[in-house]
Amino acid sequence: MQSTQSLFENLRKDFPILQRTVRDNKPLVYLDNASTTQKPNQVIDSISNYYQNHNANIHRAVYALAEESTEVYEAARDKIANFINIKNRQELIFVRGTTEAINLVAYAWGRPFIKEGDIIVTTEYEHHSNIVPWQLLTQEKGAKLEYIGMDDNGELILDDLDKYLATGKVKLVTFSLMSNVLGTISDVEKIIEKCKAVGVLTLIDGAQAVPHMKVDIEKLGCDFFAFSGHKMLGPTGIGVLWVRKSVLETMSPFHGGGDMIREVHKYETTWNDLPYKFEAGTPNIADVVGFGAAIDYLTKIGMDNVRAHEIELTKYALEKLSEVKGLHIYGTKDISKRGGVISFNFADVHPHDVAQIVDGEGVAIRSGHHCAQVLMERLNVAATSRASFYIYNTKEEIDVLINSLNKVAKVFKL
Ligand code: ALA
Repeated sequence: MQSTQSLFENLRKDFPILQRTVRDNKPLVYLDNASTTQKPNQVIDSISNYYQNHNANIHRAVYALAEESTEVYEAARDKIANFINIKNRQELIFVRGTTEAINLVAYAWGRPFIKEGDIIVTTEYEHHSNIVPWQLLTQEKGAKLEYIGMDDNGELILDDLDKYLATGKVKLVTFSLMSNVLGTISDVEKIIEKCKAVGVLTLIDGAQAVPHMKVDIEKLGCDFFAFSGHKMLGPTGIGVLWVRKSVLETMSPFHGGGDMIREVHKYETTWNDLPYKFEAGTPNIADVVGFGAAIDYLTKIGMDNVRAHEIELTKYALEKLSEVKGLHIYGTKDISKRGGVISFNFADVHPHDVAQIVDGEGVAIRSGHHCAQVLMERLNVAATSRASFYIYNTKEEIDVLINSLNKVAKVFKL
């Protein structure tokens, strides 16, 4: 059997883009994985194989290709359900990504159930996709949006949650399992336990967590869960919304159109079975197949190995980054409470300048507000630089990042 170390060393060859150079022949060091990940040949090939051999619309025709296409689409649903331990495949809805999943909940659950005076609780470290849909909903309904605050360590202040729950007006608590900026892993068990104790529903944004650690939906006990394929080796434009069946059955449709109906008459329509009631129109079939191939790839590695690899890289990076003069790292130092995402600022050098200089050395990091301006306000900064890791990153690449940051220090005479 292959050792874990050689497994991670060998898998880089599966990613054609990692073989290329950028900016004057510098090997690409891709450290923007919280934004999107690169794709292995297994995923790329699965999509071209689908188009070359099986392409047809699903759920609609009886000829051979249509049957095959339906089969591979539904097989991917089963793979994904297994991967995060969803027992009932009717609860797994394909959407474009986490953003669409949360908007679907805000529309199809929020519109019928949220009334004037109700409270929806989110957190100060959410991505805009877990803030803006709730602003739209609460503004429309005369409801209120409240925030669980964050301490200086980058962890949620759960006393805030207690305070809101005590009002008896909270209908939903929505939070990310892992922050896309700080890498903080939320205390999910505690939050869900507190909400369950008073019958409040919970939504988890799992976009940054599912790609990096074992997630078991059954065990979590939340009511809604969303994540995206492209942050875990899969294609863009495909993601998952999971909703507990007892809640899903109470929800109105999101989009109207083909495949989500049972019968349509001039003035009324009845709905298809779950999950199809929420999958209107021709879905993104090829990318569902590609997502399934990404799940196969990660399953083969094992999510415990993925997490262990990232802990090792993050520990190493935190250590090395803390030696760089003038560099401030945000978030907790407790590695058990964070994933492979590190945001930092460099004295008063603008993060875009930092990103541009390191790009000159072939290093891709993100700079800006990371779609988390509420968090930027809390940190009292306009922007940060962010390095984020995945299965194909190495300690040698972190060394390249550190050398390029030393170059920034030199340029700005820090
Ligand atoms: N959500 C992505 C990020 O954090 C785009 O960069």
